[in-house]
Amino acid sequence: MELVRSDILVIGSGAAGLFFALKASEYADVRVLTKKEADQSNTKYAQGGIASVMDRVRDSFELHIKDTIEAGGGLCDREAVEIMVREGPDRIEELIDLGVRFSRDDSSGDLRLGREGGHTMPRIVHYGDLTGRELEDTLLEACATNPRIELEENRLAVDLVVDGQGRVRGCHAIPGEGEIRTYLASNTVLATGGAGKIYLYTSNPDVATGDGIAMAYAAGAEIENLEFVQFHPTCLYHPDAKSRLISEALRGEGAVLRSLDGREFMRDYDPRGELAPRDIVARAIDSEMKLSGEKYVLLDISHRPGDWLSQRFPFICETCLEFGIDISVEPIPVVPAAHYMVGGVKARIDGTTDLEGLYAIGEVACSGCHGANRLASNSLLESLVSAARCAARLAGEMESHRYEPSGEDVPVAADPKVLETVILDHDWDLARRVMWDYVGIVRSDERLHIARQRISQISQTVRMLFDEYGISSDMVELRNIVLVSSLVVESASARKESRGLHYNMDWPDRDPSREYCTILRRGTGRGPATTYGHSEGTGD
Ligand code: FAD
Ligand code: SIN
Repeated sequence: MELVRSDILVIGSGAAGLFFALKASEYADVRVLTKKEADQSNTKYAQGGIASVMDRVRDSFELHIKDTIEAGGGLCDREAVEIMVREGPDRIEELIDLGVRFSRDDSSGDLRLGREGGHTMPRIVHYGDLTGRELEDTLLEACATNPRIELEENRLAVDLVVDGQGRVRGCHAIPGEGEIRTYLASNTVLATGGAGKIYLYTSNPDVATGDGIAMAYAAGAEIENLEFVQFHPTCLYHPDAKSRLISEALRGEGAVLRSLDGREFMRDYDPRGELAPRDIVARAIDSEMKLSGEKYVLLDISHRPGDWLSQRFPFICETCLEFGIDISVEPIPVVPAAHYMVGGVKARIDGTTDLEGLYAIGEVACSGCHGANRLASNSLLESLVSAARCAARLAGEMESHRYEPSGEDVPVAADPKVLETVILDHDWDLARRVMWDYVGIVRSDERLHIARQRISQISQTVRMLFDEYGISSDMVELRNIVLVSSLVVESASARKESRGLHYNMDWPDRDPSREYCTILRRGTGRGPATTYGHSEGTGD
């Protein structure tokens, strides 16, 4: 078994992992593992931008904090929100110093600030609708020229290495089919992003299979608030358009939602109309589609001039044109899709988890910044702020934890037998369809009950396949999708109320006595998860 040692091991090369690596490289050697090509991440596909109070005349920290906590449905951790909001402008300035470009006013040179749902002020720093690509490319370039950062592509982390005292010592990874390599480090930072792929329809790229949550859960970490899955209201509806987001920023610039017969419906659901928080918009679209029986609704920004649209939204214009839609003359067919995992590995804003040696930052973490519902464009902000905080925290903890793995730490060797892909594909599709049909935007006790049974059956099959055929990349991803799906079902079943992103029609109201987070921790052996709640909300 090949052993590789580093001061700090980072798993994931999105905004959180890369920004952390740059900061930590000031005092340590950092190794970054990433499962596919380095830029494959949710970060790369971010369109809207990064929320931050850059205009201190019209906007204020207090307003951004208030908006965030209001969206969070009583479950935000106020201290985490304050840190995220107040440290945001400094992180944006650091990005600008690194070379990240943001859209600016032609004459004044001031940052152009966009507006998105739930924000009472324009405060979204963006680079057209290519913010994520600009950010990811710039961070990758900075890491590539940094002698203290080693980035390894095509390394799928499989499991965390945990010593006899329960301290996390690194991970096992697949560097190529049929191989296992053990990466040891004084500290391990999970920055593996989201889990959109547990749903059949998602805005997320293929890498988002919830691996970090699955690995942390298996290692015994606490997992928090997984019932809160954010569905983005507007993804392009087209049979060939996989994972194509149509940014909320369009609605911020005046785009209107209509039913196929041309009726504007958002004000029937919320006085804020198109700029209501996205859970409300997603549920309104879902309800319109169910009432009309149509497969999509329309998003119309054709009242804006074509030149302006192609400058402000170059990516969306181009994407829609690819599918024969000219957004300057016709509306865009849109549907909701799974977008963001609000819950995750329970962590503080500096990444600390309840396992020694393990830190979680970015979308994989549940830091308390988002409560029961994330405000648009707050997640890149959270990723940057918690990455910087985590790097500062680890600077004081770099004493060497030299560790020699024992036989017990070593996973079953990767010696996959050949398994027909059709078998894996079947379970992969089945699990994601069950989640879409029964654990989607609108839930019920019966749907959750059915989902629990179906996911449990798939889980048994996957366990059997795993034991029989050994570790392969596809098998690990399937294992993680099924495990994370089961944890989402467990969390959703435990919350007997509707709050934030979790809507259960059998419990349609918010219950003030349930203002607590849902925590899961692995039971003993292969037994079920333990679910329990604890109060940590903001109380509003
Ligand atoms: P990611 O950027 O997803 O990076 C995770 C990394 O971990 C990837 O490199 C992945 O390959 C790697 N990885 C995963 N599993 C493993 C494994 N087992 N082994 C090794 N590597 C692994 N948020 C905003 O704030 N503003 C926006 O405008 C915005 N727009 C969005 C648009 C889209 C289409 C999507 C999908 C998301 C958007 N979001 C937006 C959300 C935001 O992009 C993410 O929450 C954020 O980028 C998460 O960053 P991250 O570094 O935590 O994870
Ligand atoms: C969008 O551009 O609509 C996505 C913003 C986000 O997810 O924060």
